[in-house]
Amino acid sequence: MRHGTSLALLLMIGLFDMAILGILILYLTVGVEVTAMGQWKELHSDDPKYVALTFDDGPNREYTKVLLDGLKERNVKASFFLLGKCIPGNEELVKLMDRDGHLIGVHGMDHRDLAKEKPEYAVKQIAEAGEMIREVTGKEPDYMRPPYGSWNENLEEAVGKELLLVPVFWDVDSLDWKLQDSGKIVKKVLKDVENGEIILLHDEFAASVEAAFQIIDKLRAKGYTFVTVDELMVD
Ligand code: NI
Repeated sequence: MRHGTSLALLLMIGLFDMAILGILILYLTVGVEVTAMGQWKELHSDDPKYVALTFDDGPNREYTKVLLDGLKERNVKASFFLLGKCIPGNEELVKLMDRDGHLIGVHGMDHRDLAKEKPEYAVKQIAEAGEMIREVTGKEPDYMRPPYGSWNENLEEAVGKELLLVPVFWDVDSLDWKLQDSGKIVKKVLKDVENGEIILLHDEFAASVEAAFQIIDKLRAKGYTFVTVDELMVD
């Protein structure tokens, strides 16, 4: 009887151990699968990721064409905010920009800080640059980027109401004008960028153009799609 009891006990312990082992194996298997699935999902995610490249201060006789060629090669649409003073003599570049499907917005006539000017004067400057763009492309711009991102309520009121232009700022400042090194610019952007963000670059430096191409290739590999700012600003 005693012997029988301990046998039954041993059998019970044995079954219990097997159950624990079973649960453990199941847990580990599921765990590994969940981790593997997580990694797989990260690489093959269907969740779309978008980013917009913006280029200010052009068109630039030396670098804008190189940039446009590289963007076309990569089938990327970007957004350009032009300075009125840079348009004369570079009309073909602006036309090409438009033909290639890039968004063209206003940056100003020259690069003055419009928040420091009287709103009426700012409106006049922006309207003039917008008109220069319209003369070349036949299209009225819908967006503007204030130089230095400098903006205030008076400008919002005047520019928004009189010109119906939407100001576009940025999320990621590449600091390309300061860094002047494509590797450093790429590193800065890749470190800061997140889904749905706008990246600021300038098509007036060789390093910026080279960096833009690397940014495109690297973010594409991470599943990003490049869009124009209007596509990001629709809520
Ligand atoms: Ni600028």
